[in-house]
Amino acid sequence: MSEAGPNISAGAAQAVFEAMRKRRMHRVFTPDPVDEDILDRLVYAAGRAQTARPGIRHLVVANDERLVRTVRQACPGFVNNAPAVIVICSDLKRAEEQLGRRSAEDVTRLDAGAAAGYLTVAAPVLGIGVCIVTSWTEEVVRVIFDLPEHIRPEVMVAVGIPAANPPKAVKRFLPVVHRNGYGRPWKDSA
Ligand SMILES: Cc1cc2nc3c(=O)[nH]c(=O)nc-3n(C[C@H](O)[C@H](O)[C@H](O)COP(=O)(O)O)c2cc1C
Repeated sequence: MSEAGPNISAGAAQAVFEAMRKRRMHRVFTPDPVDEDILDRLVYAAGRAQTARPGIRHLVVANDERLVRTVRQACPGFVNNAPAVIVICSDLKRAEEQLGRRSAEDVTRLDAGAAAGYLTVAAPVLGIGVCIVTSWTEEVVRVIFDLPEHIRPEVMVAVGIPAANPPKAVKRFLPVVHRNGYGRPWKDSA
């Protein structure tokens, strides 16, 4: 057994952690389109993320120039020049049938967040940049992507090839980590 555990080589484990280290939000992209096979791999990553119930997660992949331009114009929070967007959505009807209304409300948000996390880690491995965008108006996004009432857009992920010299990433935000309950630090600061 390797140090990384059964069936996972140390190199593979290293690659995953390296992708986590390298991942960041990009907001400046080259004008080049993103190859469809790259978009397919991002779709795979989003689909491999843990999901609360089958059939809840929907992804709308948009690489039509006019459509993406419309997103940029109609959503002022979409501050980037990405040529493609993946909209992570939830089927609220299906979620409610399986989880009840109150749980469905929370669980669908978590489900979309998991998909967004996987996309974010897959991106640097593929030489791609992504940016999670959540500041937009639901009604506007529904109209742009023809979403029926039971499909709620949760997260937009801008996708593109990062500019050669992108602006520096925002400083890393670290979680506060507690040991065995709130208030005792997981690690004593040196
Ligand atoms: C739930 C969530 C919502 C976010 N919404 C936006 C957004 O609307 N627009 C944006 O440019 N970035 C958004 N971000 C990206 C954060 O601003 C970014 O992750 C943070 O600044 C840290 O930068 P880094 O991811 O490059 O380390 C969001 C991130 C998360 C997790």
